[in-house]
Formats: sequence, C-alpha cells, structure tokens
Amino acid sequence: MSNTLFRTKNVEQSISDTEEPEHALKKSLSALDLTVFGVGVVIGTGIFVLTGKVAKENAGPAVSLAFVVAGVVCALAALCYAEFASTVPVAGSAYTFSYASLGELPAWIIGWDLVLEFALGTAVVAVGWSGYVRSLLDNAGWHLPAALGSRDGADGFGFDILAAALVLVLTAILVVGMKLSARITSLVVAIKVAVVLIVIVAGAFFVKGDNYKPFVPKAQPQEAGGSLDSPLIQLMFGWAPSNFGVMGIFTAASVVFFAFIGFDIVATAAEETRNPQRDMPRGILGSLLICTVLYVAVSLVVTGMQKYSALSVDAPLADAFKATGHPFFSGVISFGAAVGLTTVCMILLLGQTRVFFAMSRDGLLPRFFSRVHPRFRTPHRPTILLGVVIAIVAGFTSLSELAELVNIGTLFAFIVVAISVIILRRKRPDLHRSFRTPLVPFVPIVSVLASLWLMLNLPAETWLRFAIWMVIGFLVYFLYGRFHSRLAQGDRAPAEAAKS
Ligand code: ALA
Repeated sequence: MSNTLFRTKNVEQSISDTEEPEHALKKSLSALDLTVFGVGVVIGTGIFVLTGKVAKENAGPAVSLAFVVAGVVCALAALCYAEFASTVPVAGSAYTFSYASLGELPAWIIGWDLVLEFALGTAVVAVGWSGYVRSLLDNAGWHLPAALGSRDGADGFGFDILAAALVLVLTAILVVGMKLSARITSLVVAIKVAVVLIVIVAGAFFVKGDNYKPFVPKAQPQEAGGSLDSPLIQLMFGWAPSNFGVMGIFTAASVVFFAFIGFDIVATAAEETRNPQRDMPRGILGSLLICTVLYVAVSLVVTGMQKYSALSVDAPLADAFKATGHPFFSGVISFGAAVGLTTVCMILLLGQTRVFFAMSRDGLLPRFFSRVHPRFRTPHRPTILLGVVIAIVAGFTSLSELAELVNIGTLFAFIVVAISVIILRRKRPDLHRSFRTPLVPFVPIVSVLASLWLMLNLPAETWLRFAIWMVIGFLVYFLYGRFHSRLAQGDRAPAEAAKS
C-alpha cells in the first residue's frame, strides 16, 4: 500500500501531459506578465485592511517589523518555489511539484490544501473589496441595506451581495480567457501601486515622531487567556497569553502573512508561460521584493501618521488621512483599494481553478473538470463550479477567521515545497534546473522552520479547523482519488516502467 500512496508522476510525464491537445493551456505569458500578476495578487486586503488591526491589537508601530518577518519567511519559501517552478513547468503549483517528488498522497494533501488557500482567500478578498466599495457608495450618498452588507459582526440573516457579485463577474472573465485577464490586471495593478505610492509619499509629510513611542509596546495579558483564540505556541508552553511585546510581533507576522499570499500563484501559471525556465524565478522573486519594500514603507508611514491605538480597523490607510485632515487623499485611497482588490480576487480565483484542473487531469478529482473549452482553451468547468461556490461562501461569511485559515494552509504548503526541493535534488539530480535554490539543504530547512514558527503563532482554533479540512481531504482521497488516479489506472505504466 505504501508503494501506491507514494507513487510519483515523473517530471517528463508531467510536462508531456500538458501537451495533449484537449488538455493544453495557451502559452502566452512573459516574465513581466508574471511580475504584474504577482504584484497584482500580493498587494491587497493584507496591507489595505489587516495592517490597522494588527497594529492596534498585536504589535503597535512594530507592525512594520512583522511585515519584515513575514517577508523573510516568504523569501525563503520563494527560493524553494522558484527552483520547483523552473524545473517542473506545469500547471498546479506545489501540488504538481510534490506529485513529482514526494508521491501521490502528499501531492493530494497539498492540492487539497491549496484549494482551501485559494478558495477562501478569494472569498476573504471579495469581502474586503465589498467593504471599500460600500464606503465609496456611502460617500456618494447611496446606502445598501445592512442585510446586503458585510457579515462581520452582523446579526441575523444577510448576504454580502457585492462580494458575491464580484466573484461571479470575475469567473466569467476567466472563462473567456487568460490573456484578457492579464491585460485588465496590468491596468488595475498600475492604479493599485500608484495608490500605495501616494500613501507613502504624501503620508510621509504627516508623520509625527511621537507616534512611534513606544515602537514595541510592552506585552499586555490577553483578556481571553488560555482560550482557543490564543496562539498555539502560547498554549503549548503554558505561557500567559499576551498581546504586544516581542511575541506580539510574531503574532502580527502570522496574520499579516496574508498580505504576501499570492506570490506562489505565479508558479501556478508556469504552464501558460512562454519561457518558464527563465521567467518563473524572475516573476516570483521580483514581485515578492517589490511588495516587501512597499509594505514596510506603508506600515511605517501609517503608524507614524496616527497613534497605533487610534488606527481604524476597516480602512486604516484611508482613515489615517481622514484623521490628519486630508479627506481628498482618503477618497483616492479608498477608490484605489477597491480597484486593486479586484485583481487580487481574480488571480486567487485563477490559481484555484488551475490547481483543481491539474488534480482532475491526474484523475484525483473527476476528469470531467479537465477538458478545456474548445474555443477559449480555458478550464471552464472547474472555473464555473468553484466560482459559484466561492460566491456563496463570500456572501455568507465574515473574513477575519477565514484569513487565518488561509494563512495556515499556505504555510503548510510552503513546508511541503521546501521538503520537496531536498527530496527532488536527491531523487532526480539529473534534471535541468534553470534556477537553483542556494545552499540546499540549509535554505529549505530554515524555510521549513520559519514557516512552522509562523504556523505556531496562529490561534489553536485555526489549527483545529485546518485539521478538520485535512481529514475531509483524506476521506475524499481514500474513497475516490486513490482508485481513479491516472497512475492507478495504469495508463502511465509504460512511462513508469521506463523510469525504473
Ligand atoms: N496577499 C493578498 C492580500 O493581501 C491575498 O489580499
């Protein structure tokens, strides 16, 4: 049994699968498209919304250090992702990479985990987008009924109609074609980056040194001490749960990590890239670097403009300008955030459908989903199915807890990718790697430890939810995927024989 659980799809097989005409995606993306894609998805709810919450509740002005910590964790993971993406240039991201190295069961686990990351991530960002749009509508004097607004802290039945509508419109765009999406993305990314630069440059004039004192606020005991809301690490070691202080920086890092999610999605588009060997690493590392610099600058400016304890939780960047008496900038920022979050949502949705597509092409999910559209050449079936499901989730749920669940799933994926780099180097030293992770196994091991550390700083409750999702995944694999996988069906037997 362990042989079948760890059967691997070899790398040549993975690449040749993508060349079967009815399962092939168009190769149209360049390194610049990928970087735009990366920045397009990475800058979003994390910096526009979560910065205020974590500065206020966990880290104070040291939230900028939290961004550095999260950025370092991501950079380590990016070095591992880039090697895999340039070695195994096929759809599916960490899922495909682990199928080629660790085996079918680990690949299933990671694929299932990525579905969680991208689907819930899409929902989280759609809800954040809807908040900004409502605030713009309010400015214009149009007020939506509460039952059609945000579910955060809302009572009774309600449905966030804007969030759901956004997901459905984006689904339609993705069905029509990748290239169209990339063009829209470029324009929107330009607007979003411009708004972030406005925050940094204009905001720098309103910074007051006093707001940085204390830069790292003293640790304070948490009210709900010892509950499932506390970071797992504090419960494990029996520490008194606290906010702020040095540990607060790590708690904040485990939350603002959400702001970096998405650079890994660049890797999911490898199959649609003209020259993945060269362009993948450039796209991944480039977008990560740009975002880290911008985040640190934005968080320093915002906590310098307004005392951290006074920051707003819903729209901290825009409200900091309002608080310093500059409503014009505030309006521009709200508009840019609303526009910018659109691409984040779209690319998360895209990454999600591509993972689902790859899993279905391998037979781990029904193969019905892996036929591409005869005209658009897009995986329209999973796109439509998942788009509808995510629209419903986005309509009915609140975002704060979902964001933490997304983070734990992503960090887990980072760990699997880092381990896969080490394993694949041993098992297939012969493969051409246009990008090589430096200092293997040191960098992948540090990457595993760093990701694990952030995971441990997430609430125990988040771990519990993640465990439940993974148990469901095991059931689906053992009741369906294991028997329907193309490797199990034997249509891979000749290639496997040739390999061994
Ligand atoms: N990194 C993306 C965001 O901050 C998902 O919204």
